[in-house]
Amino acid sequence: MDFTLSKEQEMIKKMARDFAEKELKPMVIDNDENSSFPIEAYKKMGELGLIGLPYPKEFGGSGGDYLSYIIAVEEISKVDASVGIAYSVTTSLCSGGIFNSASDEQKKKYLPDVLSGKKFGSFGLTEPNAGSDAAGVVTIAEKKGDYYILNGSKCFITNGPLSETFLVFASTDKSKGTKGLSAFIVEKSFPGFSIGKIENKCGIRSAQVSELIFKDCKVPAENLIGEEGKGFGIAMKTLDGGRIGVAAQGLGIAEGAFEIAKQYMKERIQFGKPLYKNQYLAFKMAELQLEIEQAKYLLYKAAIDKQEGRSYTVPAAKAKLACTDAAMHVTVEAAQMLGGNGYMREYNVERMMRDAKITQIYEGTNEIQKLIISGSLFR
Ligand code: CAA
Repeated sequence: MDFTLSKEQEMIKKMARDFAEKELKPMVIDNDENSSFPIEAYKKMGELGLIGLPYPKEFGGSGGDYLSYIIAVEEISKVDASVGIAYSVTTSLCSGGIFNSASDEQKKKYLPDVLSGKKFGSFGLTEPNAGSDAAGVVTIAEKKGDYYILNGSKCFITNGPLSETFLVFASTDKSKGTKGLSAFIVEKSFPGFSIGKIENKCGIRSAQVSELIFKDCKVPAENLIGEEGKGFGIAMKTLDGGRIGVAAQGLGIAEGAFEIAKQYMKERIQFGKPLYKNQYLAFKMAELQLEIEQAKYLLYKAAIDKQEGRSYTVPAAKAKLACTDAAMHVTVEAAQMLGGNGYMREYNVERMMRDAKITQIYEGTNEIQKLIISGSLFR
C-alpha cells in the first residue's frame, strides 16, 4: 500500500494545519478552561470545505477523498482535540450514517447544512444502560399514523447542545433485540425533544456533550432511515467509520504532544546541555516516534481500505486501538519529559493528556476494539 500523499492531500493537510494554528491555537487554553466551543471557527472549517470533505458535491460535500478528511481531523486534533471530535462526530457519525443508509431525498434535505458547517450533527446511540452493549437500547419509537413517537433518553452525546440534526437509534420492536432497532433523523425543533444535562468533563472540555431527552417526541415517519429493524446494522457500520475518525483524533493528539516535547528537548538546558543530549531521553523520543508512525500506518491503511471499498471493520478497530493508546502513552511521557512545566496549562501537554483519555473510551472502548479484532481471528 502506498502512503505517499498526493498533491491534493498535501494541500489539504497544509490548509488544515494553517487553519488550526491561526484560528484554533490562540483560544485553545481559554476554551478548555471555560468549556466553551469555538463555534465561529468551526463554521469557517465548513466554509473551507473541510467538514464536507469526503462526500460528493451533489449532497453538499467537497468531493475529496477519505484519506484527505482523516488527515484534516489529524491536523485539527494536533492543536485542538475538542474541535477534532466535534468535526469527526459531525462528518463520520451523523453524516456518515445518513450518507450510507438514507434515501437521496433525506440526504438532500439534511446533508448540505451539516456538511457546510451551518449546522452541527450528532449521533444518538448510547444510553445509561447501553454503552459497550449497544444492543441494550431501551428508547422506544412507536408508530402512530404519520409519526413515530419516541420516548427515552440518550447520554454522552457529542455536540448535543449545539446540534440541530441528530441521527437517533430507537427500538420499534423490543421483542426483536438488535433486529428491532431503527434509525431516525431527529431535528432539534421536533416537539418533545430537549437537551438534558450538559456534562462537565475531565478532557475535551470545549466539546459540548449532553443528554438528549425524548418525551413523546414526534418524528415524521418519513424520517425513518431505511426500513424498521435495520438500525443496529446502520449504527455498527457508521461506527466503523467513526472509529477511523477517533483514531485520527488520537494520532493528532500524540503528534501534537510529541512536537512540543521535541522542541522542549532542544531548548531546555539542564546539567549544561540540552535535554536531548541525554541518551535516555533521546531513546524515549525514538520509541515514541516509532509508536506514532506504526499507529499512523494502521490509520492510513484503514482510511484507504474504506476509500477503496474494502471491508474496514477490523482495520478501523486496529487503527482506533493503536492511535488512541499512542495518544495516551505519548502525552503521559511528554508531560514527564517537560517536568514541572508539563503539568502547567500554558504548555498544553497536560490538556492533551486529559484529552487523550477519552479517545480510549468513546466510539467503542479499546476493549471493544480487541473484541472485534479477536472475533475476526477466531470466526
Ligand atoms: N457492520 C455491520 N453490521 C454489523 C457490524 C458491523 N461492523 N457489527 C455487527 N453487525 C451486525 C451483525 O452482523 C449482526 O447481524 P445479524 O444479527 O444479522 O447476524 C448484528 O449486527 C449483531 O451483531 P453482534 O451479535 O456482533 O452484536 P453484539 O450485540 O454482540 O455487539 C459490539 C457487538 C461490537 C460489541 C457492539 O455492541 C459495539 O460496537 N459496542 C460498542 C458501542 C459503541 O461503539 N458505542 C459508541 C457510541 S457513539 C460515541 O461514542 C460517539 C461520540 O459521541 C463520541
